[in-house]
Amino acid sequence: MKIDWSENDFVTHWKYYKPPARASPSDLEFIKNKILEKGKEVKVLILGATPEYRELCGNLDIPVALLDFSRNNYEYLSDEVFNAPKEMFIEGNWLHSKLSDKFDIILGDNVINVLPKKDIPLFFKNVANMLKKDGFFMPRSYIRTPEETNFKVEEGIKEYRKKKHIYGLYTGMSRAFYIGAYNFKDDVSFLKDWFKAAEKMYKKGLINKKELDFFLDKVGWKDREFQFFIPLDKELTGTISEHFDILEVFYGTEPYLENKLPLHVLKVKR
Ligand SMILES: C[S@@+](CC[C@H](N)C(=O)[O-])C[C@H]1O[C@@H](n2cnc3c(N)ncnc32)[C@H](O)[C@@H]1O
Repeated sequence: MKIDWSENDFVTHWKYYKPPARASPSDLEFIKNKILEKGKEVKVLILGATPEYRELCGNLDIPVALLDFSRNNYEYLSDEVFNAPKEMFIEGNWLHSKLSDKFDIILGDNVINVLPKKDIPLFFKNVANMLKKDGFFMPRSYIRTPEETNFKVEEGIKEYRKKKHIYGLYTGMSRAFYIGAYNFKDDVSFLKDWFKAAEKMYKKGLINKKELDFFLDKVGWKDREFQFFIPLDKELTGTISEHFDILEVFYGTEPYLENKLPLHVLKVKR
């Protein structure tokens, strides 16, 4: 299983990925307080180049290190950071890179979700090496529940029409495709399959042309080989627990998060 980040125009679509794909205001407030808990000299590492996390560090006037294997993504996303902190970009892989520093806080937005399931133990092991003894690793991740294995895209669209339209198309409808088109056998989802499901819904008259075009042009799912892993809640807790102690699990308070995007606060098991 290969996740292809070489389709480097993908990054140009991310501005349309609203929460829950990105941290919500309550998630950011929670993270802010955790950073402040560590005091003025706090050392923060971001896995990836998440604009919201960089902006938060800029507002707190805290320098930040970023670890991403795509300098192109980092540079492109820099235009979305209006109050940039002092940044040190490290070009490297979360699975293998050895860093000379250790960090008080490591942030990762949807990092578990963009890795192949089989790589998660190696990932946790490597991140644990980057963390200070009392540091916090704080991944924010999509999870799913066993009941959702029977979920149908149609159901999600019905819910959107009934009550979730108030959140906007991405926030209110995207999960219908993430879960409705999930490949439960291989425990992975392809973005191209989310688009195929959207086309099917269009043909059935359940979504309109404007909505279909959003998933085509704006979020760019069509023909995209990119893969997304959404672990079962309990399985994720089990794998995490082999490497970290779970200090806290925060669920953002916005109703559209539906308790399906935990933000874990983890400490290395010694
Ligand atoms: C953090 S993820 C998920 C998107 C997320 N919502 C964001 O923008 O923060 C996106 C970034 O992770 C990077 N990435 C993915 N796998 C990686 C890996 N194994 N090592 C280093 N960077 C990786 C990609 O290049 C991309 O810039």
